[in-house]
Amino acid sequence: MTGLRLFSGRSNPALAARIAAYLGLPLGRAQLDDFPDGEISLKLLDDVRGCDAFVIQSTCPPGNKHLMELLIFIDCLKRASAKRITAVIPYFGYARQDRKDEGRVPITAKLVANLLTTAGADRVLTLDLHAHQIQGFFDIPVDNLSAEPVMSAHISAMNLGPVTLVSPDVGNVKRARIYANHLGGDLAIIDKRRVSGSETQTMAIIGDVRDKTVLMIDDIIATGGTIVQACEVVRRHQAKRIIVGATHGVLCGQAVERLRKAPIDHIAITDTIPLADGVCEQLPQLQVLTVSELMGEAIRRIHRNESVSSLFMK
Ligand code: R5P
Repeated sequence: MTGLRLFSGRSNPALAARIAAYLGLPLGRAQLDDFPDGEISLKLLDDVRGCDAFVIQSTCPPGNKHLMELLIFIDCLKRASAKRITAVIPYFGYARQDRKDEGRVPITAKLVANLLTTAGADRVLTLDLHAHQIQGFFDIPVDNLSAEPVMSAHISAMNLGPVTLVSPDVGNVKRARIYANHLGGDLAIIDKRRVSGSETQTMAIIGDVRDKTVLMIDDIIATGGTIVQACEVVRRHQAKRIIVGATHGVLCGQAVERLRKAPIDHIAITDTIPLADGVCEQLPQLQVLTVSELMGEAIRRIHRNESVSSLFMK
């Protein structure tokens, strides 16, 4: 693939290496370091003049550092005369503040869109944005892939029989419906009321889960509050088996401990965010699926000006 150059920030080098392996390309060489005061220094060690450059960086925790590193990388590629720069953001952080639904709050997703464009990004490739409308915050092309094909293939291979898709909150209903369309099965919804950024209060369930195998779908597991409370509700309503599928395993705060104690038989997440050491040992029911082929294929098609739409699940 002439002219394609792949680079990686430091947030998820393992996924970047898997994407590079799928494409059969080496990762571009760059020297990324921290100055003694914590500022980030970067020097490209490969020529990128006139190249189609892709820089892979999840803006996962520590999000401020990873976002800044991505912006610096884009600026560096632009000043080194890359012809086109695509920010490949497997996990797009700061996405949950995507509207001003009360006074005196920021819209961080829009701020990040402005920062990426100002730094010099020509395109964005991402996966399961928290809300589809965030694409509209950009005036450059955004390809928002879905992990649904990867997750559904995994669930199908588990031979669970009929499943009931459960959305842990009203915001995830569309996502759950996509899975229901693909895997078959009924839909149920948890009526979640959020108390604060770190605390949720789950209220009721709309739909029937009694004696059912439940597949609970969310885009993010951060503190685990939402998904664990939702699982407790479906268990109280006598669900037989509970499977959780979430694209982005942020797993911060008490998440691992909460998930460990939760009534969950199996959890599937993807590798958009690297796990802390020991998480897999503490959570034997956890399985990590890779999105490297999905993202690698999207990169290949973008580079060749081929359609990316068939990789999308609407
Ligand atoms: C909420 O709107 C999202 O879809 C997730 O349910 C939420 O971000 C998960 O956060 P936590 O795990 O902290 O409850």
